[in-house]
Amino acid sequence: MALTLLLLTAALAAAAAGDAPPCAQRPPQAHYSSKTAYQLVHDDNVTAADHVRGCEAVYFWHLLRHGTRYPNVKEIDELTKGVPPIQARLRESAAAGRAALCPADVERMLTWKLNATKAHGNMLTVQGERDMEGIAGRFRSRFPAFFTKHAHADQFQIRSTDAQRTQASAKCYGERLFSEPIDIPTPLAEDPLLKFYAMCPLWERAVDKNASARAEVDAFIDGEVMRASLERVSKRLGFEETLTYKEVEVLWEACRYDQAWEPTQDSPWCAAFDDEDLMVFEYRADVKYYYVTGYGNAVNLQLGCVLVKDIIDKLSAHESLGKSGAMYFTHSTAIHMTLAGLGIGRDAVPLTADNFATLERDRRWSISRLGPFAANLAAVLYECPEGENEKYKVRMYLNEEPVPVEGCSDADALCSWSDFRNRFAAAESCSLDFCNATRPNGSSPMLCSSLTWATVTALILRLISVLR
Ligand SMILES: *[C@@H]1O[C@H](CO)[C@@H](O)[C@H](O)[C@H]1NC(C)=O
Ligand SMILES: *[C@@H]1O[C@H](CO)[C@@H](O)[C@H](O)[C@H]1NC(C)=O
Ligand SMILES: *[C@@H]1O[C@H](CO)[C@@H](O)[C@H](O)[C@H]1NC(C)=O
Repeated sequence: MALTLLLLTAALAAAAAGDAPPCAQRPPQAHYSSKTAYQLVHDDNVTAADHVRGCEAVYFWHLLRHGTRYPNVKEIDELTKGVPPIQARLRESAAAGRAALCPADVERMLTWKLNATKAHGNMLTVQGERDMEGIAGRFRSRFPAFFTKHAHADQFQIRSTDAQRTQASAKCYGERLFSEPIDIPTPLAEDPLLKFYAMCPLWERAVDKNASARAEVDAFIDGEVMRASLERVSKRLGFEETLTYKEVEVLWEACRYDQAWEPTQDSPWCAAFDDEDLMVFEYRADVKYYYVTGYGNAVNLQLGCVLVKDIIDKLSAHESLGKSGAMYFTHSTAIHMTLAGLGIGRDAVPLTADNFATLERDRRWSISRLGPFAANLAAVLYECPEGENEKYKVRMYLNEEPVPVEGCSDADALCSWSDFRNRFAAAESCSLDFCNATRPNGSSPMLCSSLTWATVTALILRLISVLR
């Protein structure tokens, strides 16, 4: 009897081992939307010094999202509570030989533990410090003459939001760029330049805290594409009952945070997702941003003028500012809205619940590429010699790559200053006054008294995109 049992167990184990796929290592992926590791996105090639046909860089404007951070307190709570029950189920399904994962992956999933407590909530990680040092070091090698001439932090306006992760980012960046300790001016609790969206009640009411702004993402989560993905992930883990969206989302968060913390290593939980599943979850995240911080809502576009106006103001007045540049440390929302204000990452068709098949692998609004951790946008002003058709030119860099600006006729992502100003002339009168507009109703003389103007503009935009 004992022998039969032993043989049976051995046979089962052999069967289980036989079914388990070999451990095929997938290289670390860069498809985790706003939690993508910066170094998997930017061009890590040795940076050649930037030459613009004899022109000289004279002003350096740089807007940065903080580096890799820990999850927020709520996410840490969800990860702490959500992962262990799935590990318990995986232990059973793997023992029964049902998991379609290689044994080493199962082992790594079973021994995985969140490397953070609530006290870490939203703080910059060690990798986040490296992100910032890398960016600063590469810009310094890209503009050697400029940063030799302007070698001290006090020659620049450095400004950060009042969060630990942005201030720590500013310090790491500044100390690497200037090789000296830097002072960051006390951040404003309410910053109309770097957290303009948080000072816009209209955006909070009509977009951020408005459940309707999440209608497309909710429909995508409830739709067929997501259901098929949840089934694939559940099968891979060997579960007979399909996991809920919430359960799989926790695993995806574990996967993508881990991946960002250690970009060169493959994260254990990522093995629960195949390439198609990663596309599905990436799209889910991008759809949310499209409506809450991107092109999907006219209010977001309107807010996008704040930092575009700052580029124009600073570069226009660079000779009289007494500073050689500005470096701003902020958050993903400011980056997304500014990209939208500049027309970068705009698709011809909107990201909707039904558009996954069309946009899956080919869309401009890809936050993994546009807005990973440490995402950054630079505007460099060049002074060119006599004989050039125009004295000043500007070039924008997104995540260290020159990025062409719509409406600029020059080659090489260069833009003559007059083209740039013409293209963004509307931003020069940018104001947040509209943010305090109360809803027109009753006493208001507006035509469509039941609709806010934001709805009207959103409807018009929608119409335009349908007609195109
Ligand atoms: C780095 O340069 C090589 C050779 O020019 C190129 O093939 C590669 O795509 C570049 N890497 C990135 C991330 O752009
Ligand atoms: C919420 O969003 C929907 C869809 O964009 C819009 O119709 C509605 O007016 C918004 N609600 C508020 C309070 O602005
Ligand atoms: C995990 O914890 C160790 C030990 O405290 C620490 O050195 C490491 O940086 C942590 N990893 C992350 C990603 O925070």
